Amino acid sequence: MSLKLGIPTDDEFPTFVPMTFEAMGGRSEFVNVVWPRGFTKDGQELNTSRFLFLKNIDPSSRWIKVTDTQTNEIIGVAQWNVYDGQKPPEMIVDGPPGTWENDTEKEYAQELFKSYMQKRWAYIRENELPLVCLNIMTVAPKHQYRGAGTMMMQWGNELADSIGAACIVESTIEGRGLYEKSGYEIQEHWTLDVPGKFGDRPKQRLFFMIRPRKSGEP
Ligand SMILES: CC(C)(COP(=O)(O)OP(=O)(O)OC[C@H]1O[C@@H](n2cnc3c(N)ncnc32)[C@H](O)[C@@H]1OP(=O)(O)O)[C@@H](O)C(=O)NCCC(=O)NCCS
Repeated sequence: MSLKLGIPTDDEFPTFVPMTFEAMGGRSEFVNVVWPRGFTKDGQELNTSRFLFLKNIDPSSRWIKVTDTQTNEIIGVAQWNVYDGQKPPEMIVDGPPGTWENDTEKEYAQELFKSYMQKRWAYIRENELPLVCLNIMTVAPKHQYRGAGTMMMQWGNELADSIGAACIVESTIEGRGLYEKSGYEIQEHWTLDVPGKFGDRPKQRLFFMIRPRKSGEP
């Protein structure tokens, strides 16, 4: 059974978005809170339209898919932002009305998002472009360990190397091995946490990882 890389069309998003949530498995507090209800039909539709909105307004966004050529099923997707020329603004996540249950959940999502982005924003402030940021890397659980993740990482690395970019990712525990094999190095192992009134919410451990640009400079 062979696997093929390609660029997903907007029409294909509804077919693979449920898979991305299935792959994350509800284990990421960040995903559960910033992209809520990913295991329900309404949450999948909502998040499909949010992904498409962001893809279509942000010229730095690149999506890639892996298709199983025998079944035509999209078994994996990844998304990067490619910054070359101008540094991106430090924007806080938002969503259409109804994305979050109430204002408190929205506030929590925005605080968690800020906490998640701190290391990325600091890196961008302190370093030169070009830079490639990996945001989404998911392979359907029943198709993991077939090389789809490696194919997508190779695509992202070739893109980065073609413009002399460094790469960064905030990695889950599951992603770490794949990223290390792809040339990323751990800078920090940290706990995503929103102190104060959201201090009792679930904690998530993440690895901040960098793949240095090809010239050897971080
Ligand atoms: C991480 C992930 C994308 C890897 O995709 P994949 O197609 O299985 O990757 P590959 O088959 O190319 O395997 C590459 C390496 O990934 C690692 N890997 C794959 N699946 C894994 C899993 N479920 N748990 C831990 N490591 C895993 C292994 O180190 C593997 O290397 P090996 O074969 O030498 O042991 C996939 O496991 C996934 O979707 N995980 C859940 C979502 C997630 O956390 N993504 C990362 C977000 S930052």
